[in-house]
Amino acid sequence: MPDDAPRYRDQPVSFVRRGGRMSEAQERAWAELSPFYRFDVPRDAASTSVHPDAVFDPAAEFGREAPLIVEIGSGQGHAIVNAAVNNPDTDFLAVEVYVGGLARTMLDADKAGARNLRVIEANAPEVLETLLPEGSASEVWIFFSDPWHKKRHHKRRMIKDGFGATVGRALRDGGVLRLATDWEDYALQMREVMDAAPEFERAFEGEWAGRFEGRAMTAFERKGIEKGRDIRDLTYRRVPRG
Ligand SMILES: C[S@@+](CC[C@H](N)C(=O)[O-])C[C@H]1O[C@@H](n2cnc3c(N)ncnc32)[C@H](O)[C@@H]1O
Repeated sequence: MPDDAPRYRDQPVSFVRRGGRMSEAQERAWAELSPFYRFDVPRDAASTSVHPDAVFDPAAEFGREAPLIVEIGSGQGHAIVNAAVNNPDTDFLAVEVYVGGLARTMLDADKAGARNLRVIEANAPEVLETLLPEGSASEVWIFFSDPWHKKRHHKRRMIKDGFGATVGRALRDGGVLRLATDWEDYALQMREVMDAAPEFERAFEGEWAGRFEGRAMTAFERKGIEKGRDIRDLTYRRVPRG
């Protein structure tokens, strides 16, 4: 049984680990760039888990005090590397379980000379629940979260009941959650879940938010557009803690 099988956790995970092996270039990037870019997560039982006592201290890791933006499921890293290059006064953290994507992210960040970015290979809800200090993130981005479109798989979706508390813990008061998806049924679920979350309020007028202009176009967004799907953006603000 793979070591990410749900038996290790009380919740099903929202990912299936893609192809085990990295290309030679990715292996090299992983070895050479990890010391600077990758935070080595202390593990619990599963290989993508986070030890409950582990802490990522942004000021120590980046060597400065700056706003922190966390991207969950950063894929190949196009959006976050682009944002890091364009916002040198902000720090960025990519959270992914797909190691080939993390290797690509580190390569592109290095090529672009972006030093305000770190990557974490881990199951994102655990990063939000325990690894990040409470209120440490200014923004959390989740773009094109796996839609798990079959009904029997909906329990694997990341943005489901209870997610507001998970992400609300990591965000500072007034912090912003940005979501985007090309899957209408998941967009509706996201809006329902986040509207009901006491930790958040809508930060958009009307049905949906406008397209977030800080989001570089990724292959997932392009594919959705090519298939004629509407891209739905949602933006929520963390309400101040009582
Ligand atoms: C459909 S892809 C979108 C990638 C990227 N955001 C983009 O727009 O190109 C979703 C990504 O989320 C990652 N992912 C899904 N569940 C995750 C989890 N629980 N923790 C970390 N990453 C996760 C997957 O590995 C995958 O790379």
